[in-house]
Amino acid sequence: MQTPRHKLDPPIIGTSDAMESVVRLIARLATSEVNVLITGESGTGKELVARNLHSCGPKKTKPFVAVNCAALNPGILESELFGHGRGSFTGAVTPHAGLFEQADGGTLFLDEIGELPLFAQAKMLRVIQDREVRRMGSAAVRRVSIRILCATNTELEREVREGRFRLDLFYRVNVVRVHLAPLRERAADLVDLTDFFFASRGLLPPTLSKQAREALFRYHWPGNVRELQNELDRMVALYPGLTEIKTSMLSERIANGNARERPFDVRLLSDTPLPEAVGYLEENLLRKTLEKTNWNKSKSARELGLSRQGLLKKIKRYGITGRARDLTS
Ligand SMILES: Nc1ncnc2c1ncn2[C@@H]1O[C@H](COP(=O)(O)OP(=O)(O)OP(=O)(O)O)[C@@H](O)[C@H]1O
Ligand SMILES: [Mg+2]
Repeated sequence: MQTPRHKLDPPIIGTSDAMESVVRLIARLATSEVNVLITGESGTGKELVARNLHSCGPKKTKPFVAVNCAALNPGILESELFGHGRGSFTGAVTPHAGLFEQADGGTLFLDEIGELPLFAQAKMLRVIQDREVRRMGSAAVRRVSIRILCATNTELEREVREGRFRLDLFYRVNVVRVHLAPLRERAADLVDLTDFFFASRGLLPPTLSKQAREALFRYHWPGNVRELQNELDRMVALYPGLTEIKTSMLSERIANGNARERPFDVRLLSDTPLPEAVGYLEENLLRKTLEKTNWNKSKSARELGLSRQGLLKKIKRYGITGRARDLTS
């Protein structure tokens, strides 16, 4: 079964073999009810695939509810996901429908499922298995009819081996897997993505100088499509009306084909506004600590004097990625 490209919503760009097979898989899975696990590095388009699995299927007019499991505060996680009855805890004045109920009839997208704490995994398993939700502090059981899509940028098998993710839940969510290759492995898509980016902002796509094209192809793209978008955003801001992308317009790390961060030099900051300088320092320190602890987030948080939630928030704010680079280089 073929999904014509124009039916994709939002559009998925790329004609590399890897992307073509993802699009074919979406066409086959969109009409089915099966739980899908979407894997890939940060910024590869996992949420984009989830939205397409919803919008190309029969439930497209029903709700699509996305939840980032890493951003849920453990204190309110249960009530967010499963809801709560009146007076089930201090402050629960009115009853509240959780995300599972809000997604009823449609799709629930559980992003960063690997970050879900073990205590919530047990309850999640029951809901996924029985399609029944019981709000916290309430005896009533409500049936929900939902499609469950999950995404992760960590290797869930390893989380299972190391006891952080329940094997039974893993089997439930990993019925079919859609894997998104990192951008560096489908450089063929770079030019199409660049053209699409400009066109979607109502701009004429520029040409690429030979050197700029080589630099884009050589670069490691640890932040994948999102990093490419940021780079193009930067270019549009700095060179309005550009008609050709030249190497001199690229960020230094990309122009030099060097994915590693340069050592931090405080002299770089002498003319920088304070908030920007502090942000730069913070990002640098986060990256160093994460690399040192081999992306052990709890350990990094301890070393930095942050809560784990606090660290995750900052990682997200700065769009820090690195596990993949650590594994591949
Ligand atoms: N093939 C593609 N075609 C068009 N846009 C894309 C493609 N892949 C990714 N994007 C865009 O790149 C951005 C990042 O994609 P998305 O948020 O889906 O990534 P992700 O894998 O969920 O990232 P993260 O792990 O950081 O949450 C989005 O703006 C998305 O629309
Ligand atoms: Mg995402």
